[in-house]
Amino acid sequence: MKLSDAPDEQLGDIDPAEFRKRLHEVADWIADYRENIGDYRISPAAKPGAIRAQLPGDAPEDGEPIGNILRDVDRVIMPGVMHWAHPQFVGYFGATTTNPGILAEMIAGALNINAMTWRTSPVATELETHVLQWLQQWLGLGDEFSGVVYDTASISTMHALAAAREEASSAIRQRGLSGRAEVPMFRVYASDQAHSSVDKAAIALGLGEENVRRIASDAEFRMDVGALREAVFADLRDGFKPLAVVATAGTTSTASVDPVAEIASVCTEHGMWLHIDAAYGGGLALLPECAWVTNGWNDADSLVINPHKMLFVPFDFSVLYVRNIVRLRKVFTLVPEYLRGDAAGAEINYMDYGVQLGRRFRALKAWMVWRSFGRVGIAARIREHLRLAQLFTSWVNEDPQFELSAPTVMGVVCFRIKAADDSASDALNRRMVETINAAGETYLMQTKLRGRAVMRMGLGNLLTTEQHMRRVWQIIKDTAAKLAL
Ligand SMILES: Cc1ncc(COP(=O)(O)O)c(C=O)c1O
Repeated sequence: MKLSDAPDEQLGDIDPAEFRKRLHEVADWIADYRENIGDYRISPAAKPGAIRAQLPGDAPEDGEPIGNILRDVDRVIMPGVMHWAHPQFVGYFGATTTNPGILAEMIAGALNINAMTWRTSPVATELETHVLQWLQQWLGLGDEFSGVVYDTASISTMHALAAAREEASSAIRQRGLSGRAEVPMFRVYASDQAHSSVDKAAIALGLGEENVRRIASDAEFRMDVGALREAVFADLRDGFKPLAVVATAGTTSTASVDPVAEIASVCTEHGMWLHIDAAYGGGLALLPECAWVTNGWNDADSLVINPHKMLFVPFDFSVLYVRNIVRLRKVFTLVPEYLRGDAAGAEINYMDYGVQLGRRFRALKAWMVWRSFGRVGIAARIREHLRLAQLFTSWVNEDPQFELSAPTVMGVVCFRIKAADDSASDALNRRMVETINAAGETYLMQTKLRGRAVMRMGLGNLLTTEQHMRRVWQIIKDTAAKLAL
């Protein structure tokens, strides 16, 4: 068939009138979902493989009407969804879905632009720079810092350590690490509570997982600076080169905050890069009464914060700030021939600051969410989460059947159910979480602290109210009554 003979209906997009109709349907579907989210069962009841079993195995040969596909969203997709945005979902750090964020994601999807260079869509770059500066102002980071948006904190931390690695040795960018006797054996330090993304960064950067030294934490799960000093001295004695410390502001299990200012002194003494993982806890900086969380930040070389963890921007949105960001740019700028025209003349092309070339227009959702609530509105919502976490903590403390497992610092509470036979208590705590989660009315995490299994809840959803937390506590107590006989 000649190209010109192709029937029109086989080409181009779906019919505009049909699209408009479906768009309205989807808009209503989303609004209904948001309004009724509290009525859903949180964790899907589906067994592994049950969802795929409902899908045809063969790739679609011929197209189907969009109406059929949307029906399958309700029939096949929805039963397999974990409803993170449910107000009684208290797994991880909660979920930061917001209505302005959803609107922004819809618009960004329609635009489908690429933020790799300024020219590939000027507004994507300029809005990114703009929201990065808003956030920087809120965090109180000095002008010597500049930021870049990535998808996740794992990627942010990897880029920070790549810059540290380049600065601490010569020409790793050009010549790599392997087969070079003059390249030292680097060591990276992080507390025993730091996130596994530090290890992953070491793996990706060829530093080696074994060269991430886990430093003991104190009774409140903060890095022990004395132990850090000892580890650095021991490594120097043994011929290693201390490269970087990753200090955490808001650890994954207990939301503890490492003593960053003291760690910064150790970094200065030994010429180490200080990276702060404020992926979760960084958001606290927006509350004037929590300014303590930012102690030592301006002595850092880099800091990551995930606005998708505390600042109500829908997943994914991670920001890396670097002091004198040229140090990061030097590692990653590489302009392919076909982009030379696009890259010319612009002040910032964000593709120069990382591994990825194509970049989503993520700034739009931060801009829309942060304008909708303002700092005051964001801070008020976080403050309410802190209040709810303290309230929940008081319930745990007042109930002789339970005990707190770590101080409640932010919107995270770690606690245990006691068992008559202590040797059975780890299994009981794990069974509590599994039973509660399987029932679908709330969703918690289990973690390990000092070798003991504990239950953990995290707040982050602006739909979560005191009433929801009272219900979560009741579910925990009812489950305890059933299991701890
Ligand atoms: C403290 C901390 N850092 C880093 C990460 C990794 O985050 P991401 O999923 O954005 O890579 C997490 C994940 O929860 C975290 O808790």
